[in-house]
Amino acid sequence: MSSPRGQFSSKTGFIMAAAGSAVGLGNIWGFPTETASNGGGAFVLVYLILAFCLAYPALMAELTLGRHSRSNTVDALAAVADNNSTKILGRFVGWYGIVVASLILSFYTIIAGWMLAFLVAPITDLLGMSEASQWLSNQSLTRNLLFGGAFAVLTMSIIASGVESGIEKWSSRLMPMLIILLILLIIYVLNQEGAREGLELYLLPDLSRILDPKLIVNAMGQAFFSLSLGVGTMMVYGSYLKKEESLPRLGAIVTTVDVGIAFIAGLLIIPAMFVAQHHGATIYGEDGNLLAGPGLIFNVLPVLFDSMGTAGPFVAFAFFGLMTIASVTSSISMLEVPVSRVVESSELSRPKATLLIGGLIFLISATIIANFDQLFGLVVDFTTKYSQPILGILLCVFAGWVMNRDKLLKELKEGHEDIESSMFWKIWPLYVRVFCPALILLSFWQGIAA
Ligand code: TRP
Repeated sequence: MSSPRGQFSSKTGFIMAAAGSAVGLGNIWGFPTETASNGGGAFVLVYLILAFCLAYPALMAELTLGRHSRSNTVDALAAVADNNSTKILGRFVGWYGIVVASLILSFYTIIAGWMLAFLVAPITDLLGMSEASQWLSNQSLTRNLLFGGAFAVLTMSIIASGVESGIEKWSSRLMPMLIILLILLIIYVLNQEGAREGLELYLLPDLSRILDPKLIVNAMGQAFFSLSLGVGTMMVYGSYLKKEESLPRLGAIVTTVDVGIAFIAGLLIIPAMFVAQHHGATIYGEDGNLLAGPGLIFNVLPVLFDSMGTAGPFVAFAFFGLMTIASVTSSISMLEVPVSRVVESSELSRPKATLLIGGLIFLISATIIANFDQLFGLVVDFTTKYSQPILGILLCVFAGWVMNRDKLLKELKEGHEDIESSMFWKIWPLYVRVFCPALILLSFWQGIAA
């Protein structure tokens, strides 16, 4: 081991970092659009149930496994195993998670690069450089490589500084900014004409869809992505947590913040679409559904910003600033998964390991950028549709079956003395052993059959 392990200095530091990982493009872009295209309030309701009943228990599995073994994901899973074949399985799951985390980061970097380009465009606008703004707002190979690369450098520079002075420091600075920007933007948008229609669509549930299998599968996928589950991010963050903190409480806070921010992001995005429609933007696709893909963020919302006159560039800057901040606090958590493994199993220093791994992941991003139509969807499906649920099941099995009840109890008692008499301990152990894996499997099956 080339250096001592890092640690979060305080409870708030951990909450900022873990909530920072959870709150990302998945909340601000993914959740509102999934909601709008899956029956509005009905989706919100199912999502809330799944987030607390399925994703929270899985998050607890990761946090407990991580803090128990205080190491990177590969060693953590091997360490709880008590025979050779489970050790091998543990290493395999650890590595599979590392590969998936890296691949998620490779496509996340591309999207975050677009956000970064759109963040700069209002500045060139204000400076009267309209050609530059045009170039920044249009897809091109050079723009995507340049801004994807800049975002990768940003992510690497935070991870190179380590847990306390990198991850914790930056998450603690950026998360409050994110919340302030989000609230200011909501106040602004809700006061524009057309916003009400969006609010209604977002909040009124179409209850006939509540048992629609597709809705349930989408809600589960969304909850897993949003809480950064399956690939070991939360396990690594848990491994940097002090023993005197209560895991169930911290996990509940992180889940609540994540769900809360996803919900309030919907109060911004969906009404904003209808305000944009009021100004002439097309917000429904040819299939009659509300636009949800990149067209929404990069075509619909700019119509809105353009209609705002002098306020336009400032609001656009605030919006893409919000998106960029949300992306960075998430991307660092993905990069930490492979980097912690390399730092703890080689002689490489953290900065060198970060440069090596971050560079490799950006090479994958560049390959995807150059072959976007063939590769992008493939990588997204392989990681989020297939691998995250499979890994989620395996991690629940590791916490529930391999780690076993005694070890779980011992770990959870740290920082939560009276856990044995709590509701949590009455429900969770059986839940993580049986219900979580079964429910994830069922919904995964539905998902690939659909
Ligand atoms: N949760 C983040 C979001 O909502 C993205 C993210 C960070 C993630 N780490 C992850 C997703 C690990 C899957 C796995 O945008």
